[in-house]
Amino acid sequence: MTAASGLLGRAVLAELIALTGGKNLVAVVRNPETFNDAKVAVRPGDYDNETEMAAALTGVDTLLMISAPIVPNTDRLAQHTRAIHAARAAGVRKIVYTSVIGADADHRMLYWPTQQVGRATEALIKNSGMTWVIARNGLYVDLDLAHIRRAADGDGIYRTNAGSGRCGYISVAELGIALAALVCGDQFANETVNLISENLTQAELVSIANDVFGTHVVYQNISIEQCLEKFHAMPDYVKRGEDVITMLVGCFECIAHGLFEVSPDFAYVTGRPAKSIREQLAAIRDKRPH
Ligand SMILES: NC(=O)c1ccc[n+]([C@@H]2O[C@H](COP(=O)([O-])OP(=O)(O)OC[C@H]3O[C@@H](n4cnc5c(N)ncnc54)[C@H](OP(=O)(O)O)[C@@H]3O)[C@@H](O)[C@H]2O)c1
Repeated sequence: MTAASGLLGRAVLAELIALTGGKNLVAVVRNPETFNDAKVAVRPGDYDNETEMAAALTGVDTLLMISAPIVPNTDRLAQHTRAIHAARAAGVRKIVYTSVIGADADHRMLYWPTQQVGRATEALIKNSGMTWVIARNGLYVDLDLAHIRRAADGDGIYRTNAGSGRCGYISVAELGIALAALVCGDQFANETVNLISENLTQAELVSIANDVFGTHVVYQNISIEQCLEKFHAMPDYVKRGEDVITMLVGCFECIAHGLFEVSPDFAYVTGRPAKSIREQLAAIRDKRPH
């Protein structure tokens, strides 16, 4: 697994360790000195270094390639291309790639640049000669929950430009389970799946979060310009860069246009329906330090 040290990587790793005991698992991370998991082998692998990545993937049968994050002055498609070439050179048989829902939608909106990276990466993988699985992940409900809770600590109004559109949401923990199943299941080959739990409107998500966390947040639809302004007023988002802000507002724009409302394949992948978003939020609540 590449990018094993991130939020998603750690969730999948935990599931894979539970399934296999850690035997035959390799966590590929760009800074092995900061990643100490005694249960798995750890190898250095940076998306910016194809030679290092090929060495890290030597002897690997199945690769879970987690998409690179949006970072200022970084060409994500070039990073993905290097990793795919490295996997092929190393003799990897099967590659599972974490894409995002709605990758087929053809609308030139703010999300377009991010979507093109996902699409181009999907195409490269399908033409790589390796057995492939494209896992189109729903939006992490953990992240939207954090914004809703931020609103609860502020003026109690959660504002986005998603309107009444529905979006396929899923928690990182549930994604970890589904991705581990895709990696371990040889029956999954040359197919694209949507890993989501439920399609919810923003108002429905806020209402469930209120129930689970005892808050009284109200959802308010705002314009794209107002939502861009909102993120520009948040120093942590300004620090993460313009591309992240554009991508986030672009996601809400996609939701407004119905592009992130997709059919769920979670049960097909794991053999059980995904936990409801209510259950997933309760699980996040119960895991928080008190
Ligand atoms: N569907 C959604 O709602 C959603 C939400 C957020 C993100 N995403 C996508 O899903 C991916 C995984 O999400 P996440 O929450 O795990 O992100 P995350 O916690 O920010 O982790 C990003 C991971 O990418 C690694 N990384 C960054 N640059 C790298 C490079 N040059 N070479 C190799 N590894 C590199 C990081 O390594 P270090 O530990 O060394 O920094 C870390 O392991 C993201 O990168 C993004 O593409 C999707």
